[in-house]
Amino acid sequence: MISERMEKLLNEQVQKEFYSAYLYLSFEAYFAGRNLDGFAHWFRVQAMEERDHALIFFNYINQVGGRVKLQALAAPDWDFHSIEEIITKQLEHERLVTASIYNIADHAIEERDHKTNSFIKWFVDEQAEEEANAEQILSKIRLVGENDGRGILMLDAEMATRVYVVPAPLAANNQA
Ligand SMILES: [Fe+2]
Repeated sequence: MISERMEKLLNEQVQKEFYSAYLYLSFEAYFAGRNLDGFAHWFRVQAMEERDHALIFFNYINQVGGRVKLQALAAPDWDFHSIEEIITKQLEHERLVTASIYNIADHAIEERDHKTNSFIKWFVDEQAEEEANAEQILSKIRLVGENDGRGILMLDAEMATRVYVVPAPLAANNQA
């Protein structure tokens, strides 16, 4: 069993991960509207990964005898004006998610909840990667410049190569 407080934090995290998927689909829609199909594809894959993150928390809550209580999702922004604006929003959002993951890790330690402490470690590492990805894309956009059509098309082609992979904890769960 997990504590009531931990159950609440994990349920809030399910909502945050689904919201991330929703936000990234909104980013995809912006890029699709500008015919930047590589960026659109990259954010579709990102949205799929965020949905998977939500499902990993969902599965974990069930596994430890908690009760999943799905929350409402707010409408994400949709009125964007530049690539840099979107990637900046992505980075800010991922930093918020990291803080939320750290909060779960802090509570797990405080409550001597070793199971959750072990479970959350994968997400601590994942967040480091998410922030690094966003930072890298942002620096490339700034380097190329928003108005350099050739540079943006090259970046778009690079973004198109991203391949969706089922996150390890979910793949492990599906095999069980
Ligand atoms: Fe996530």
